[in-house]
Amino acid sequence: MRAETKTCAAITMVAGLMLVTLAPREAGASDDALAIGQEIYEEFCAACHGYDGVKQIPEAPNFARCERLEKDDETLLVIIAKGKGDLMPPWAEELTGQQMRQVLAYIRTFPAKAGRRDPACKPAGKGKGTERSKDAKR
Ligand code: HEC
Repeated sequence: MRAETKTCAAITMVAGLMLVTLAPREAGASDDALAIGQEIYEEFCAACHGYDGVKQIPEAPNFARCERLEKDDETLLVIIAKGKGDLMPPWAEELTGQQMRQVLAYIRTFPAKAGRRDPACKPAGKGKGTERSKDAKR
């Protein structure tokens, strides 16, 4: 009996914890999307593009200096999906469309962190690329 009560309490606690940890994830999409984007970036992209967006191989663009980030999200998402040249791999098989958007939104935070203030280097708007993209095109 005692053991059963303990198990029950444990299950209730675990369920409670899950609710606590899951609930904000649903609500505050934007910050969470950036956190997920960071995880993806550090796992798949940082080896070449650098943890802070400073390129690690000469062929890669330097995101911390906003290189290539003047392009709009749609253009960059196609390149992320399909790859480019000999060294930039295609990611469509590894990542979902949403994950690619999240990782791109994270990439767009590098120039500001590095002190760049160019208008074309603005970080992505709250998870949606379209409005910011119009600015960036000009
Ligand atoms: C093996 C090294 C490598 C890895 C890993 C890598 N990249 Fe790249 N990436 C490159 C190189 C090199 C270029 C430049 C390609 C060119 O211009 O020919 C590039 C270019 C880019 C560009 C700019 C495209 C443009 O318009 O020129 C973006 C955006 C990008 N990478 C995103 C990512 C993302 C997101 C990931 C992880 C999911 C990633 N890369 C992983 C090497 C890499």
